Amino acid sequence: MSLLNLSDVSFSYITGKPVLHDINLTLEAGSNLGIVGESGSGKTTMLKLLLGLQRASTGDVSFRGQPLDIRSSGFMRGFRRSVQAVFQDPYSSLDPRQRVFDIIAEPLRSLKIERDIKDAVAQALEAVDLPADAARRYPHEFSGGQRQRIAIARAIVSTPDLIIADEVVSALDLSTRARIIELLKTLSQRMTFVVVSHDIALVALLCDRLIVLEKGRIVEQGVTRDILANPSHDYTRKLLASTPRMPKTG
Ligand SMILES: Nc1ncnc2c1ncn2[C@@H]1O[C@H](COP(=O)(O)OP(=O)(O)OP(=O)(O)O)[C@@H](O)[C@H]1O
Ligand SMILES: [Mg+2]
Repeated sequence: MSLLNLSDVSFSYITGKPVLHDINLTLEAGSNLGIVGESGSGKTTMLKLLLGLQRASTGDVSFRGQPLDIRSSGFMRGFRRSVQAVFQDPYSSLDPRQRVFDIIAEPLRSLKIERDIKDAVAQALEAVDLPADAARRYPHEFSGGQRQRIAIARAIVSTPDLIIADEVVSALDLSTRARIIELLKTLSQRMTFVVVSHDIALVALLCDRLIVLEKGRIVEQGVTRDILANPSHDYTRKLLASTPRMPKTG
């Protein structure tokens, strides 16, 4: 069964004109999806719909075949456990007053997941290649790349099926980027990723499927390899041409 499904979805913010039009999208477990498109094309907005942070203006969003019902707290608890997010800015996304332990433990506590919290945090830290003693420290003691690892540890601690990642490496320097991408690749053996990026090269490393958004519409959708080898849309060719090359990883 599909994890998430968007069917004929359109969306406008209260204040403005439509930013997403006629979106049809199915996310299968085990198949990472990349979303690319220029700034303002609606990538983050689409993630907000996938995360249940915004409701579609028209059309349907469903999770495991059930309508995504933001108002049902029971449904949303299960949903939050299965679908977690990591955002762009490693500096503002972590509460500076909390120790790393409490930051990573937060989903377990708020979702009332019955697991040994110490064990779970230790495992999450290990999974993102941070030392065990990181738990006692505060976010400001870490570099940007390490902070992004902390945010990733927080996202995986509830053992979700799906992680939604919005420009997670764009604030990082190139070599740090490459190492975080390697980490995501390793983690994607255990969970599915939706990755938004300006950077098609990142998406190509991580995602077997790709959608290209232009001004709120999907203009290309399919197997990443095929689209990159043979872009059918001018817009995709332009995006490819404007993408800097990634350093080799691994
Ligand atoms: N909270 C909001 N209220 C009103 N309009 C918004 C809001 N957030 C985004 N928009 C508008 O929606 C459109 C899509 O924005 P969105 O942030 O989804 O684009 P994006 O593809 O993620 O861009 P970027 O690559 O710069 O992050 C833009 O025109 C933006 O101005
Ligand atoms: Mg965005």
